[in-house]
Amino acid sequence: MKIIGTGSALPDKQVSNEDLTKLVDTSDEWIRERTGIGSRHISTGETAASLAAEACKRALENAGREAVQVELLLVATCSPEMALPCTACQVQELTGAENAVAFDLNAACAGFLFALNTAYAYLSAGIYRNALIAGTEVLSKIVDWTDRGTCILFGDGAGAVMVEQCGSGGVLGFVQHSDGRRGNVLACGSRPLENPYHGERDFMRYVQMDGREVFAFAVRQVPASIEEALEKAGLEVEDVDLFVLHQANRRIIEGIARRLKADISRFPMNLDRVGNMSSAAIPVLLDELNRQGRLIPGMTLALSGFGAGLTYGACILQW
Ligand code: ACO
Repeated sequence: MKIIGTGSALPDKQVSNEDLTKLVDTSDEWIRERTGIGSRHISTGETAASLAAEACKRALENAGREAVQVELLLVATCSPEMALPCTACQVQELTGAENAVAFDLNAACAGFLFALNTAYAYLSAGIYRNALIAGTEVLSKIVDWTDRGTCILFGDGAGAVMVEQCGSGGVLGFVQHSDGRRGNVLACGSRPLENPYHGERDFMRYVQMDGREVFAFAVRQVPASIEEALEKAGLEVEDVDLFVLHQANRRIIEGIARRLKADISRFPMNLDRVGNMSSAAIPVLLDELNRQGRLIPGMTLALSGFGAGLTYGACILQW
């Protein structure tokens, strides 16, 4: 399976660190030093579905394919606009991908990677010949804007890729892992149980995070999963041209680079401009790199997503 097109869409409104100092007791210096983030895009009405649809249209255009040709439409999100229908079906309606089978997948910040691997399984089995895969988030609605520990981290946006079966190259190896025992490290409620038999109780309305635990988990598990995926691909760290990682924060990515003994120049980053967009992070970065002409055919990429669940995984592919 090969990626043949990429696209992305970000809300128009940009919110700088300086803007956040008007909401919470923080500073540009603190945020930049601890996270590497300088600015993020925040929805003023865009939804997970509208952003994903825009990203998908751009990915289709980039791939030179029509929406009606899409056979599988997967959307990774943990901040959908609607509980029903799923975001993928909304995107199907908005893009005109009327022949696709469409459904959502939620693995938090590893969501896009898990969706990519899921498409790979379907395509390898010969069930579908192509797939349109989006990662989309409007995290601004599940973040507590009075909590300086979390509201500074996240941004809204969507990215998408079009993939097709191919004879050689493409995906060379992948791994996925989940550790549900550690779900409390990063969590957010969905909707409270309010029915005639159960009154409202304490409810986790916004994202809660143990930042240090997340940090330690990412720096330990991500390099290990990349190495595991490389082994499956029969490759070494030195063979990787670019490490396209979930853009959680700069210090995490630097920690991963150190563990892999790989120069930080091989780890492209855009989190200074877009913050942490969970499942949208990897496809948005891929689209930026693609449109900048930095992805050259034959190049080896290591993609890795990690986040709440805990979930994490890696995919090695030849561009
Ligand atoms: N501005 C100023 N001060 C702050 C801010 C802020 N925005 N946020 C927290 N502080 C303060 C705290 O209140 C605390 O003050 P105190 O010592 O007086 O109590 C102090 O800074 C240190 O707080 P810590 O939470 O211990 O800060 P830490 O050095 O751990 O940095 C951070 C916090 C940036 C969240 C860090 O833990 C981290 O990077 N963790 C990774 C988490 C992450 O990236 N999550 C993203 C989502 S998960 C994912 O995508 C995988």
